[in-house]
Amino acid sequence: MGFATDCIHAGQEPDPTTGAVTTPIYQTSTYVQEGLGKHKGYEYARTHNPTRRALEKNLAALEGGTDAYCYASGMAATNAVLTLVKSGQRVVVSDNVYGGTHRLFTKVLAQYGVEFAFLEANDAKALDASAGRFDLLWIETPTNPLMKVCDIAALAEVARKRKALLVVDNTFLSPALQRPLALGADIVVHSTTKFLNGHSDSVGGVAVVKDPAHAQWLQFDQNAAGDILSPFDSWLVLRGTKTLALRMRQHEENGRAVAEYLRKQTGKIRKVYWPGFSDHPGHEVQRRQASGFGSMISFDLGSREAAARLLETVRLCSLGESLGGIETLISHPATMTHAGYTQAERDALGIGDGLVRISVGCEDVEDLIADLGRALNAV
Ligand SMILES: Cc1ncc(COP(=O)(O)O)c(C=O)c1O
Repeated sequence: MGFATDCIHAGQEPDPTTGAVTTPIYQTSTYVQEGLGKHKGYEYARTHNPTRRALEKNLAALEGGTDAYCYASGMAATNAVLTLVKSGQRVVVSDNVYGGTHRLFTKVLAQYGVEFAFLEANDAKALDASAGRFDLLWIETPTNPLMKVCDIAALAEVARKRKALLVVDNTFLSPALQRPLALGADIVVHSTTKFLNGHSDSVGGVAVVKDPAHAQWLQFDQNAAGDILSPFDSWLVLRGTKTLALRMRQHEENGRAVAEYLRKQTGKIRKVYWPGFSDHPGHEVQRRQASGFGSMISFDLGSREAAARLLETVRLCSLGESLGGIETLISHPATMTHAGYTQAERDALGIGDGLVRISVGCEDVEDLIADLGRALNAV
């Protein structure tokens, strides 16, 4: 089936009891059993829930995996995947990942004897030469918020040489534009809060796998740790993925128009970060490994004052954390998504106080450009 067909149908059989075309919200904590050990495959809702399972099957199909597990947040999905790593092992992480990922790795999981090294991963050969031994490679591509592109197939090779796992956080592009498992990644993670749900009304996460041993462990851990996505949130994300193909086409079109507009504002904007520009260092890799460039754009206004002025003047673009909603969201990485990094770490990465990140939504793009133009005039 084509991608849009899978978005609408994968994992979503009509409800066996009523024929309801939409998977119902099975809002139950337990299931009546006919006798001891006699049940319909459902015993307790932490372990099994039909709404969550429908979403898991849907997302596994969209990412081209064999199975998927949904969690209460993107961070819970990340945490679950890291249970594949044991004390004494080493994890290499692409630099400038989402601040919450950096915080979980350095402040929580490092306590359990796992070593984390944050390295530039946009040059696979250089990483191969410098990374040393590792057991898991964790990347985001494009990276957050500087939009560096990592070559997934080349990094899969670097990981394979070490018998290490490659995990890709695919939140920024979604499977509509990029499918890392087909490029050699072992596991894909998403904050479903973002493009997959797409409506800024649910927090959730997913891990998609292709190795049955990973599926078995994650299923065991999901039940053991209990960090599950609720039935209602599962239903919301299922409703969201039905329109994923449609929405991502519009995000892509609007993203390009906004990026090109911002790049022309040379009097106010020092630099625009978007892999769709032909002179972006990762442009060719992105063309090869994805079917689009996405609608995540960062731009540098040079100072915190200028960024604050713009962010307080926009009206249609909503100032807020998060991304991937149908509405345009605009944020300040240094004080919001990347506040988990120290000032020195942000400086070293190039996440300046003048950097603004925009997640371009599906509004009429002329309205977005007019709003940004008004705000830039005030800077
Ligand atoms: C790229 C990326 N990964 C993971 C997360 C964490 O997801 P959540 O907020 O759903 O826990 C975020 C959140 O912003 C993100 O941007």
